[in-house]
Amino acid sequence: MCGIVGYTGKDDAVSVLTSGLKRLEYRGYDSSGIAVNNENKITMVKASGEINNLVEKLGEKTIVGCAGIGHTRWATHGAPTDINAHPHLSNSGRFAIVHNGIIENYIELKEELAGKGFNFESETDTEVVVHLLEYYYEGDVRKALMKTVSRLEGSYALGVVCSEFPKSVFAAKLGSPLIIGVGVGENFFASDVTALISKTKNIIYIEDGEFAEITPDEIDVFDCTGKSVKKSVSRVVWDIEAAEKGGYEHFMLKEIMEQPKALKSTIEPNIKDNKIHFEGLEPLGEKIKDINKIIITACGSAYHAGYVGKFVIEELCRISVEVDLASELRYRNPIIDEKTLVVVISQSGETADTIAAMKECKERGATVLSVVNVVGSTIAKLSDYVIYTWAGPEIAVATSKGYTTQLAVMNMLALWLGDHLNKIEETEYNELIEAIRSIPERAQRSLDLNAQMADFVKNYSHYDSVFYIGRNIDYAICMEGSLKLKEISYVHSEAYAAGELKHGTIALVDENSLVVAPCCQESLFDKMMSNIKEVKARGANVLAVALENNHKIYEEADNVISIPETHPMFVSVAEIIPLQLFSYYIAKEKGCNIDKPKNLAKSVTVE
Ligand code: F6R
Repeated sequence: MCGIVGYTGKDDAVSVLTSGLKRLEYRGYDSSGIAVNNENKITMVKASGEINNLVEKLGEKTIVGCAGIGHTRWATHGAPTDINAHPHLSNSGRFAIVHNGIIENYIELKEELAGKGFNFESETDTEVVVHLLEYYYEGDVRKALMKTVSRLEGSYALGVVCSEFPKSVFAAKLGSPLIIGVGVGENFFASDVTALISKTKNIIYIEDGEFAEITPDEIDVFDCTGKSVKKSVSRVVWDIEAAEKGGYEHFMLKEIMEQPKALKSTIEPNIKDNKIHFEGLEPLGEKIKDINKIIITACGSAYHAGYVGKFVIEELCRISVEVDLASELRYRNPIIDEKTLVVVISQSGETADTIAAMKECKERGATVLSVVNVVGSTIAKLSDYVIYTWAGPEIAVATSKGYTTQLAVMNMLALWLGDHLNKIEETEYNELIEAIRSIPERAQRSLDLNAQMADFVKNYSHYDSVFYIGRNIDYAICMEGSLKLKEISYVHSEAYAAGELKHGTIALVDENSLVVAPCCQESLFDKMMSNIKEVKARGANVLAVALENNHKIYEEADNVISIPETHPMFVSVAEIIPLQLFSYYIAKEKGCNIDKPKNLAKSVTVE
């Protein structure tokens, strides 16, 4: 969703801002714009559609200036038009602002400001902010900004320029992502590290309720009373190559192929002396004996990873695990107290629904453990405990390595919890830890299927209805396989617990249906064979995913994707990879915009 970037230094602001915005494209957007401060005059250019439209418009003008702000907008309030695009300019032209988040009380503020004579141009919630700034301005931008945000309800990451301070850019944050990049003789801010990685690896993470005034040589972070806050500078561990395609046609394929490396980086640092050891989780290891319920909450693919987590944790720990969509949990009256452990899963660490659900759980006294990929993200900061997935930056909107590293953490967490609850015998523990260690290698072997997948999918690209059926962990994998297919190839698909199909949905199955059937749980194999027979009897074409030594599956399935032999409890990673590749090549066959599917945003920072 919306991305913001700010720059002040010695270089041409237009080129720094546009290249930063291009790196934020992956977040999802439908218009963009920049505002540059030059000799006490702000020049603003905005364009709907792709950033190239903005670049084209910019090419028609000469904009000189070394400080400015930029924005990619994912429309919420008002259509994706040039006028609604950010930045927004105050009526006097003194201020320009960009905003990520939602101003919930904008209607009242708009009425109030219109009553005071301010003229509104756009349909956005954001425009009230720039007029409030103008209204409160008495020569001190910091004071005006503090007064302005005290009037706002909702969430924001704000970037501001003021024509009277040509070297300064200002920022404020509450509930939406914002980081500061520290350079030499130049400084930056942005929604995330990807926008800045080609310029600096030195980052200051600012907290909710904090503000910043940034000049080329100074960064002053201050609180709502105007008092400076001492901040430390962190160093980003990944390189620019991680945010580039590196010869692949799409980021998604690159990220699928990077999974063995991402899994290794996520698993290995957490194994010490043949035991799972999560740094910083020792107090939770003590507390866990008092926990009587685990709730896993997340959205989308992260929720699907949570579903796998439920199966492995319940199996190994014999503790009840509920998996809740974050967008649902926040609006019911969940039974949560100090004896509940809430596991929050999020790649971005910025998903609005997940943050809200997590806050709700914390208010009810739960202990919150998050599984997050982005260091310094809101969810990581708000949790009692954090386990990082070390997937590196994920640029394709549809997650792949973000999801499989979450699966790896779910597997490790189950083992860690089981060990702390004394539920696992030593021999079993040793066998399971070996199975976890082998996940990256098994992932690599599943990826070997890539060579034949482009041709293989040609048999399937004509289907416009696909059912994914499975049981237990295989069912959780169906949910993710189905989501992958629909989000990047726009093919309608549904995931069903295999035994549930006959309770209604089988009415839709006929000779025009493709049924994808992961069958990697040996103990449930016979049940799956019956379900496959049921759909075959209705004419469906069945594509199974099975372990390589399973020969029986060929008796019923029309075609089989074989994956390497793996411990059934930890098969999820090896199992989803061919389904990621399947979706990728179907989408490619159909000519879809794979890295940026329509209507979707990478980081869903609004409700
Ligand atoms: C699907 C996908 C989304 C995310 C969901 C949660 O490919 O990427 O379903 O999994 O929006 O995002 P995070 O994990 O960032 O909280």
